[in-house]
Amino acid sequence: MASPSHGHFPNRPIEDSGECAGASSRDGVPVIDLSILLNGDAQEQSRAIRDLGRACEDWGFFMVINHGVPEALQEALMESCKELYSLPREEKAEYIAARPKDPIRIGTGLFYSDVDDAVCRRDYVKMIAHPEFHCPAKPANLREITMEYSIRTRELLLELVQAISKSLQLDGGWVSEALNLESCFQILVGNNYPPYAGSDRVMGISAHSDHGLLTLLFQNGVDGLEVNHNGQWLLAKPLPGSLFIITGDQLEIVSNGRYKAVVHRALVRGEQTRMSFVSMIGPCLDAIVEPVPELARSAPQGMEFRGIKYRDYMEHQQSSRINKKAALDIVR
Ligand code: SIN
Ligand code: FE2
Repeated sequence: MASPSHGHFPNRPIEDSGECAGASSRDGVPVIDLSILLNGDAQEQSRAIRDLGRACEDWGFFMVINHGVPEALQEALMESCKELYSLPREEKAEYIAARPKDPIRIGTGLFYSDVDDAVCRRDYVKMIAHPEFHCPAKPANLREITMEYSIRTRELLLELVQAISKSLQLDGGWVSEALNLESCFQILVGNNYPPYAGSDRVMGISAHSDHGLLTLLFQNGVDGLEVNHNGQWLLAKPLPGSLFIITGDQLEIVSNGRYKAVVHRALVRGEQTRMSFVSMIGPCLDAIVEPVPELARSAPQGMEFRGIKYRDYMEHQQSSRINKKAALDIVR
């Protein structure tokens, strides 16, 4: 894929585990090979696009391999976030005091969730990376690392949006243009889940869908992400070198419900701290998101969702308590 070459993080090919030729899977979770999707011959590409469409339709969740995001960059991000978490509280006070709409926010501690009657236990840092880039001033290397990580992952996600657009029998650029993805909204979130061995009511983050279009996620080798597939919770186990992709509410709206935003949650168990890193893109905040007219016309149920400005959708989702996919009801 076309990645900027200005960074210091060389691409390392993923190890061949022998498990992931083409679109094979682990526990049935679809695997999309980015190198085939982008550089395969015409037949391979159209097969990869079809597999991608199925992954969005049947799962709303898949892994990407040969994605071009350097492992060294992922490791650097992880290390820099660890440093951020361990800074003295007074050095992070302005971010801890921030409100949900602020560009950088550090959250810490416990909160109660109505979903699953759960107590959630998570520390996180959230930063808006696009269209304007924001990052805490310390640690010193965080800015360079998150800047490069946000560019690399944004490019990858935008490539996936192009292929998803084709999988809906649209022009590759259709969705990007309709949602003005040149000015896409992007956030990076680092999650830190201390280990916990007590009640099952304690989890990292309770069941929800993401409000954006697509979310990319990797973790520090400690499992905990569960996705709901056909009503069952499934623990997501990454193939070596892969990244997880989660489809969000805006993709469900644009595709007129053909592609479902997947409900997922994070558990905390065991003896190790779990870290996860999220890079999510959504439409331009001022874009009106509505179903593709051709998809609505050809669907027996017609138009499944009414149009809404992404900014309004996001504010609605953030002002209601996190609750599976309830936020989507506002556009039904
Ligand atoms: C999230 O859904 O935002 C985080 C999930 C995870 O930590 O795996
Ligand atoms: Fe999520």
